[in-house]
Amino acid sequence: MRKRILTGDRPTGPLHLGHYVGSLANRVRLQDEYDTYVLIADVQALTDNFEHPEKLEANIFEVACDYLAVGLDPEKAKFVVQSMVPELPELTIYLMNLVTVATLERNPTVKEEIKQRNFAKGVPVGFYTYPISQAADITIFKAELVPVGEDQLPMIEQAREIVRRFNRLYRKVLIEPKAMLGQMARLPGTDGGAKMSKSLNNSISLGDPSEVVRKRVMSMFTDPTRIHPTDPGHVEGNPVFTYHEVFNPNKDEIEDLKDRYRKGTVGDVAVKQKLFDALEKFLGPIRERRNQFASQPKRVHEIIMEGTRKGRAVAQATMAEVRDAMRLSYKFDS
Ligand code: TRP
Repeated sequence: MRKRILTGDRPTGPLHLGHYVGSLANRVRLQDEYDTYVLIADVQALTDNFEHPEKLEANIFEVACDYLAVGLDPEKAKFVVQSMVPELPELTIYLMNLVTVATLERNPTVKEEIKQRNFAKGVPVGFYTYPISQAADITIFKAELVPVGEDQLPMIEQAREIVRRFNRLYRKVLIEPKAMLGQMARLPGTDGGAKMSKSLNNSISLGDPSEVVRKRVMSMFTDPTRIHPTDPGHVEGNPVFTYHEVFNPNKDEIEDLKDRYRKGTVGDVAVKQKLFDALEKFLGPIRERRNQFASQPKRVHEIIMEGTRKGRAVAQATMAEVRDAMRLSYKFDS
């Protein structure tokens, strides 16, 4: 049997270049080799946005369109809607016994997110415990590989710990997953911030129209020490060059631009224009495929339902084993 991949995204809106670099590119590359499941994690999206459940349905559709647009093939990569797999919350509840409050408190990603979100009424238990729910996501699929961005590493580590405890305590049913990072662990934002993120308003979405991409690129943060285009500029840590490295396949052009930038013989505008051209080459076909799928909602809905059906079958099979290992498959009716 082919090894399995499970990964996923919260459907909080359209996906962006950061998602592509961190995880989507790997999924597309590996879908031929691995039995791939991609979870559209609507239940997790609710953990910090439970006041607005009405947005989920449209967002799930947007995310599915993004998947199809970047080249995930629904024959190979199954899209699974998290809330439609009731075995997931069941496994989550069982796994909760295997995690201490102290361990949850140490999760650096959750800590960072709590700071960012600034929950007015205190941190919801659902949010605090989402790493356990995410461990259920991964383990119910018996995934060996989880392509993710760097911020998700603590979640995979948590899942590995849970698997070791479960298998030792009950029986060897679950599989210890490995994380796989993208070509770049984390893509900086257009503002030069550490991470691209929609909520930080420093992102370029995969479906953004040309004019939006152009505006974002032309207003990108560059070398703050450079006042005139004739000043020697800094390439290292300059997000415009970071993006060139990732999205411009013309390595000679990049080297030439870097060289002239350092010498002060090329302006920021010209470097950005070249980046825009490269991004357009990359995003153009994605945008086109995205529009095509978005105009066929019925087809996209079918793809989502078929993936979810297949995903649920895997989850049900694992849960039968889990209940058995935990001595919960009672025989009261036989
Ligand atoms: N936490 C992930 C994110 O915010 C989404 C996610 C949910 C996920 N379940 C997962 C990722 C399982 C990998 C595996 O992007």
